[in-house]
Amino acid sequence: MKHTLFYISILVITLFTACNNSRKSNVVEKSDYTKMGNNIVKKTFDTLRNSLQMAISQSGIEGAVPYCQSAAYALTNSYVSDSVTIRRTALKYRNPANKPDTSEERILTIFASLKEQGIINDSIKPITEEGKNGNIHFYKPIMLQQMCTSCHGSKSADIQPPVWKAITTLYPLDRAYDFKTGDLRGMWHIIFLKSIKN
Ligand code: HEC
Repeated sequence: MKHTLFYISILVITLFTACNNSRKSNVVEKSDYTKMGNNIVKKTFDTLRNSLQMAISQSGIEGAVPYCQSAAYALTNSYVSDSVTIRRTALKYRNPANKPDTSEERILTIFASLKEQGIINDSIKPITEEGKNGNIHFYKPIMLQQMCTSCHGSKSADIQPPVWKAITTLYPLDRAYDFKTGDLRGMWHIIFLKSIKN
């Protein structure tokens, strides 16, 4: 009897450890995607911000508006491959092509409610989750910085009339204004397609 109990205990401990291990490896895998996501966002954002600053210094803010349209897409794609896609989306978007889908809207609402609860920007962590088809989705909030207000701030105080004209000419249905520094502007959404997971 004593022996049987002993063997059962060993079995239970072994099973428990095995379960724990498989859960652990899952967590490690997810954190790897989070790391990759953070890296891609950092590189893309740095490139985008530097090129934007250069375009502004060369052709002024209103001259940089059409540049944003043509360059944003190419730039946001410069760090991706066939198995990774990246895009920017927002509840209040400028380009209708950046309108959020249902999953993106769900995550944007989560980030917005964290902000409403008063959680400070640096403490809002990215979200990494697996979709139904096995793709991994990485979402990271984009907060508005001072330099962004000249095109996304208040129409009366921050955006100069020629800039506003350039924006509404290209985006007649624009909703991406009236933001203040530190506001949640939108988010990055990176998809790691299933094929690279194996
Ligand atoms: C020179 C004007 C200008 C400046 C400065 C600017 N943006 Fe934009 N932003 C635009 C335009 C134009 C678009 C639409 C681009 C497109 O067609 O995809 C845009 C689009 C976006 C989008 C994609 C969602 C949407 O609304 O379509 C995000 C997110 C965004 N900007 C964030 C920022 C942040 C953060 C900064 C500051 C670091 C910034 N922008 C600075 C003009 C600007």
